[in-house]
Amino acid sequence: VTLLTLRRAEVGDAGLVSRLNGDVQAVHAEGLPFRFKPPNAETFPASLVVDLLGKKETLMFIGCVDDDPAGYLYGEIRRLPENAVRYAVATVYVHHISVRPDCRGRGLGTALLDAVRAAALGLGITQIGLEVWTFNERALGFFRRQGFAPVRAALQQDLRAPGGGS
Ligand SMILES: CC(C)(COP(=O)(O)OP(=O)(O)OC[C@H]1O[C@@H](n2cnc3c(N)ncnc32)[C@H](O)[C@@H]1OP(=O)(O)O)[C@@H](O)C(=O)NCCC(=O)NCCS
Repeated sequence: VTLLTLRRAEVGDAGLVSRLNGDVQAVHAEGLPFRFKPPNAETFPASLVVDLLGKKETLMFIGCVDDDPAGYLYGEIRRLPENAVRYAVATVYVHHISVRPDCRGRGLGTALLDAVRAAALGLGITQIGLEVWTFNERALGFFRRQGFAPVRAALQQDLRAPGGGS
């Protein structure tokens, strides 16, 4: 039986979060090597994690499998005021979610999303947003099964490709 536990990240977790980020950075560097750098100590440094943890908008969780840290989620509370075209919007935006490769498929990703859902609802926020690259089919399938649905499309044309194909 796998024991999953979740906790809020603290400043002392900055190095851990920086290391755990290497897994999602590696997925992006592999899928889009012209865009994303391979993970290294500077891609999501502990100093940046410390800065983020100092912001009241930040929601960061550590997920453990059998007491070993195995994943994290970094989210941001976003409150946009009403303006001429739009009503006020409150969202928790998930910037990062990553689980160590050898710990995937055990429910930790689900538990991390459940933690951010609970935090959002506790703040009276009912919308969770995130973006995922279309090449990342595992994550895309995971998010869809978790109840996420596309609400807008980010389009891009590659001018190097004949016919503008992807
Ligand atoms: C996406 C990601 C965070 C999901 O984390 P995870 O811990 O594997 O998620 P879960 O275990 O909760 O769910 C994954 C699958 O395992 C299955 N699963 C959950 N608990 C399980 C268990 N105890 N035993 C077997 N399978 C289980 C779920 O049914 C789920 O299936 P689905 O993906 O077909 O819906 C993880 O794959 C990851 O870190 N990917 C690389 C980073 C990344 O791409 N992040 C998103 C960038 S936008």
